[in-house]
Amino acid sequence: MRYAWETLYATLQGCKGCGLSAGRTNIVIGDGNPKAKIMLIGEGPGRDEDLQGIPFVGAAGKLLDKMLAAIDLDRNNVYIANIVKCRPPQNRTPLEEEAEACIGHLRAQVALVRPAIIVCLGATAARYVYDRNVRITRDRGIWKCSKGVWILPTYHPAALLRDESKKREAWDDLKKLRAKYEELYPESALKAD
Ligand code: URA
Repeated sequence: MRYAWETLYATLQGCKGCGLSAGRTNIVIGDGNPKAKIMLIGEGPGRDEDLQGIPFVGAAGKLLDKMLAAIDLDRNNVYIANIVKCRPPQNRTPLEEEAEACIGHLRAQVALVRPAIIVCLGATAARYVYDRNVRITRDRGIWKCSKGVWILPTYHPAALLRDESKKREAWDDLKKLRAKYEELYPESALKAD
């Protein structure tokens, strides 16, 4: 039988796969459309996400929603998940052992969603998704294609909140995302008038 969403949710329920489980209020699995062509991957839940059990609902999430809206997308067009599903203390970067313990769940999500495009939000996402040596300032905006999936690294929205000067490059990346989406799905470019 094919691995199903129910299996993933059941596996994660009560997960104690790493030390982060001890500090969580809620496990944060994913949000958006599980049949989306675009998957966004962040680092890990922050305080608001831990409290609500939904990814990207805090300040960075509000900016992410605006960024999506700027290219005519919303949470119905994307599926959103993180490298780790439980909040790291003080929002620190997940440790390697925490990311390794959780990455199988993300791989299962990718296998279920089967996105055509994956956007890595920030260095942590890019490092665990496709290349441990990624430097986000150097590699952002450069497409990779792996096993037929287009992967785009860009800045994490929290980085844009800390440093407004990165917003221009982030906007370039968003336009690249929109262009790739329309290239792969020309019907998405058709607007009702
Ligand atoms: N930052 C992330 O990387 N993920 C979230 O879900 C929220 C903030």
